[in-house]
Amino acid sequence: MLALRAVGKSFLGVRVLDGVDLDVAPGEVHAVVGENGAGKSTLMKIISGGYAPDEGSVVFAGETRTFRGPREARRAGIGIIHQEFTLLPDRTVAENVYLGHEPVRRGLVDRREMLARTSALLASMGAGPMPVDAPVGRLGIAQRQVVEIAKALALDARLLIMDEPTAALADHEVELLYALVRRLRDQGIGLLYVSHRLAEVFDLSERITVLKDGRRVTTVRTAQTTTDELVRHMVGRDLSGYYPGRAAPADVGPVLLTVRGGGNRKLHDVDLRLRAGEVVGVGGLQGSGRSALARALFGVAPFTTGQVDLDGKPVRVVSPRAAMRAGIAYVSEDRKGEGIVARQSVLDNALLAGRAIGGSWSGRSARTARMRDLLGAVDVRSAGVDQEIRFLSGGNQQKVVLARWLALGPRVMLFDEPTRGIDVGATSAIHDVVRRLARDGAAVLMISSDLPELLGMSDRIVVMREGRIAGELPAGASEADVVALAVGAVT
Ligand SMILES: Nc1ncnc2c1ncn2[C@@H]1O[C@H](COP(=O)(O)OP(=O)(O)OP(=O)(O)O)[C@@H](O)[C@H]1O
Ligand SMILES: [Mg+2]
Repeated sequence: MLALRAVGKSFLGVRVLDGVDLDVAPGEVHAVVGENGAGKSTLMKIISGGYAPDEGSVVFAGETRTFRGPREARRAGIGIIHQEFTLLPDRTVAENVYLGHEPVRRGLVDRREMLARTSALLASMGAGPMPVDAPVGRLGIAQRQVVEIAKALALDARLLIMDEPTAALADHEVELLYALVRRLRDQGIGLLYVSHRLAEVFDLSERITVLKDGRRVTTVRTAQTTTDELVRHMVGRDLSGYYPGRAAPADVGPVLLTVRGGGNRKLHDVDLRLRAGEVVGVGGLQGSGRSALARALFGVAPFTTGQVDLDGKPVRVVSPRAAMRAGIAYVSEDRKGEGIVARQSVLDNALLAGRAIGGSWSGRSARTARMRDLLGAVDVRSAGVDQEIRFLSGGNQQKVVLARWLALGPRVMLFDEPTRGIDVGATSAIHDVVRRLARDGAAVLMISSDLPELLGMSDRIVVMREGRIAGELPAGASEADVVALAVGAVT
C-alpha cells in the first residue's frame, strides 16, 4: 500500500531524515519507534503531505506521489492524527470533522446532514456520547482525540497515521482506541503507529521500525523481538528499567503544604498534606479531578473554599503568578496549549517563569548562561537555544518546560503527566529529576496515568474519584489497589 524509498529531509542544513525505507501493507499495523527527535513525526508529515521530501520517493497505492499539501494527501486516502492537537477550538465537533469537505445542499453547508454524519461516524467508532454541536474547546483531551480520529476517517482513509495517539488518553480510553485500531485494521486499512509506549506497540503492531538520528536502524516482526532488544536499537545501550529509589523515612521532612477542605467547581473536600522530600503520586481516572487539583494548587483554577497553608502559614494562591512567588511550580499536561509559547525561542520559553517573578532572574546574561547549562543538563536537542520552540520534537519541548521550573528551585513541584510523549531514555532521566527535586527538599506531587510509573515513583499515592480524594495508598500498593479506589470498587 505504501512504500517509502530512501527518503531524506533537512531543515536549515540539518539532516533530520536520511535514506529511510518503509512499507505498509493493507491491514497491517506498522509501529514506528525511536527517541525524541529521531525524526518520526517528520517522516509522518512527509507521508501525509505536510512536508515534501528532499530526496527519495513516496509510493502510495502503486503510484509515486508528491502531495502538495495535507489536503491532497487526505483526498488520496491518507489520514493523519498529529501528535499535537490540530482542531479548531471555536468550531463545533461536526465542523471540525468535516472541515474543508462539508456536505452541501443547494449551495449551502447542510448542517443537519453534517451533524447526522458526524454522529453516525462516532457511533461506528464505538465512541461514547459526544456533543457533536458543541465547540471542540469545551471537550476534554480524550474526547478531542476521538474527534481527531473521526476527522481522519471522514474522508475514507486507506492509510491512517497515528502520531502518539494514546499519549493523552487514560487507561480505559486507551482500550477504546485499541479496539478502534483493530477494527480499522480488520477493514484492510493500513496503520502507521508512532508511540513511546512499547507495551502498546507490542499489543498492536505486526511490524516495528526503529528510527535513530533520522536513519532506519531496523524493521522487525513484532512477534520476533523483545522490549530489551528494541530499547537497545533505540537508545544504543541497555537501560536499567528501574525507578530511582524511594525516600527513606528519615529523608521525609516537615509538612510544607496543607490543603484543608479545598473545593471549587471540580473539587470537593480536598484534604492533602505534602511533605518536603516526598513524592506523592496522584492516581485516578480521566476527569476524576487529578488535573483540577494541580490547577487549583497552581492558581490556574484556584480553590474557592477551604484553606491552603505553606510552611504553616495561610497562602492565597489566586493566580499562577502568586503560586510562582510562593515557590510552587507546575508542568501542565497540555504542553501545546499551556506549556509553551510556540513562536518564541527555546531560551525565551525556558525563561518564562523566571521573568514572571523577576528577582535574580532579571539579569539577562547571567540568567541566559545559567539556563543554557540547564537546558544542556536536561538534554534538550535543538538547533540552538534561539530556535523557535515549535520546531522542536514533542519530547524536547517537554524538557524545555522542565528546565524552566528547575531553574527556580521550586519548593512545591506539581507534575501532570510529566513523561507523556517522552522517550524511554529521557523518561528515566526525568524520573531521576523528580526524585532529585524531592531529595533536595521539595514536596513533589506527580499525576500519572501510567500505573507502573505511578507505583514505581511514589512514596505514597492519593487516588481521586469524582473530584474527591477517594483514598490513600502506601508505597508498595498494587495496580489493582489503585484501580479499585479509582473506580470505587469495594475491596
Ligand atoms: N519545521 C522544522 N524546522 C526545523 N527543524 C525541525 C522542523 N521539524 C522538525 N525539526 C527537527 O527535526 C528533528 C526530528 O523531529 P521530529 O519531530 O520528527 O522527532 P520525533 O521523532 O517525532 O520526536 P518526539 O518523540 O519527541 O516526538 C528534531 O531535531 C526537530 O527539531
Ligand atoms: Mg514526534
